[in-house]
Amino acid sequence: MTATRPQPRPGVLDIAPYVPGKSSAPGVEKVFKLSSNETPLGPSEHAIAAYRKVGEHLEDYPDGSASALREAIGEAFGLDPDRIVCGAGSDDLLNLLARAFLKDGDEAIHTTHGFLVYPIATMGTGATPIAAPETNFIANVDAILARVTPRTKLVFLANPNNPTGTYVPFDEVKRLQRALPANTLLVLDAAYAEYVRRNDYESGIELVATTDNVVMTRTFSKIYGLASLRLGWMYGPAHVVDAVNRIRGPFNVNGPAIAAGIAAIRDTAHVERAREHNTRWLAWLTEEIGKLGLPVTPSVANFVLIHFPDAKAAKAADAFLTKRGLILRQVGAYKLPSALRMSVGTEEANRLVVQGIKDFLGKAA
Ligand SMILES: Cc1ncc(COP(=O)(O)O)c(C=O)c1O
Repeated sequence: MTATRPQPRPGVLDIAPYVPGKSSAPGVEKVFKLSSNETPLGPSEHAIAAYRKVGEHLEDYPDGSASALREAIGEAFGLDPDRIVCGAGSDDLLNLLARAFLKDGDEAIHTTHGFLVYPIATMGTGATPIAAPETNFIANVDAILARVTPRTKLVFLANPNNPTGTYVPFDEVKRLQRALPANTLLVLDAAYAEYVRRNDYESGIELVATTDNVVMTRTFSKIYGLASLRLGWMYGPAHVVDAVNRIRGPFNVNGPAIAAGIAAIRDTAHVERAREHNTRWLAWLTEEIGKLGLPVTPSVANFVLIHFPDAKAAKAADAFLTKRGLILRQVGAYKLPSALRMSVGTEEANRLVVQGIKDFLGKAA
């Protein structure tokens, strides 16, 4: 039968739309948004100044190749700018990689509690997302490898992962790459790399530089505090860069984002302050919430995953904290209905949440 109106390609309407973290608490004057892993320190003041300056000339198209930004990134990380592609957030790049490397009938592996954009990007191409179970909320390389078939064209690994905050040591990532077929692209999503303080962690730069089937994606949304501008970048082999450049929007990164990104990446003192703040309060939150009797998954990122006894308790705690203007993130969509995710906030926000959970538990007892 002929359809009576245009039909999306098969699979599109099976996608569960991404639901961003809440940002308001009705009736509460002072709100602390701890639901989207944004930085409590905001962006570098140099980034804000650069953004404002470009704002005086919004009539001009940006440089479509974002060359000054790629050079600044290359300088900061010691990378060849020709092997970098910038995007409107790393979401843009994850979707472009899926579009460039997946087609109907292909498979892309992600981990059970992996970032939700992976199955969405996969299904948008007509390919099938395959979930590999984790062990103690940590990606399991053997479980991923056990799901590889001749149809597997892509493996998405968030390292560290959102919403669990856990990471895979570099030796394990290397073992994964070595065991994957040469025609399977390994996408290492290192959105939270700047926060990690572990000797056995590597964001992916070395693997990209030494192999032909690994790409690393990064973002300016987290430690650089530029989430609103939508800015990310990837570093990949020349042939992957070439494929992505052919399908990306010709001006996929806007002028204010380019200018702010350059200033942000050069303000290393600001990044260091944000990292220090995170290291201190991540440990504090993990300990203090743990003392209240709620398990917290050990995190190396800028958020913690707090486990409640059941889904009902997690929802009730969320409602209780929201009434106080403390907005955390329910993570049922990540198959974690009994947990809440909380971004590391300002000292004030962190203390209020711990007090709030204490009061909630006292109330529920
Ligand atoms: C693991 C991971 N990757 C990528 C992103 C997307 O970041 P953006 O599109 O803002 O660069 C996020 C954002 O929450 C994330 O948690």
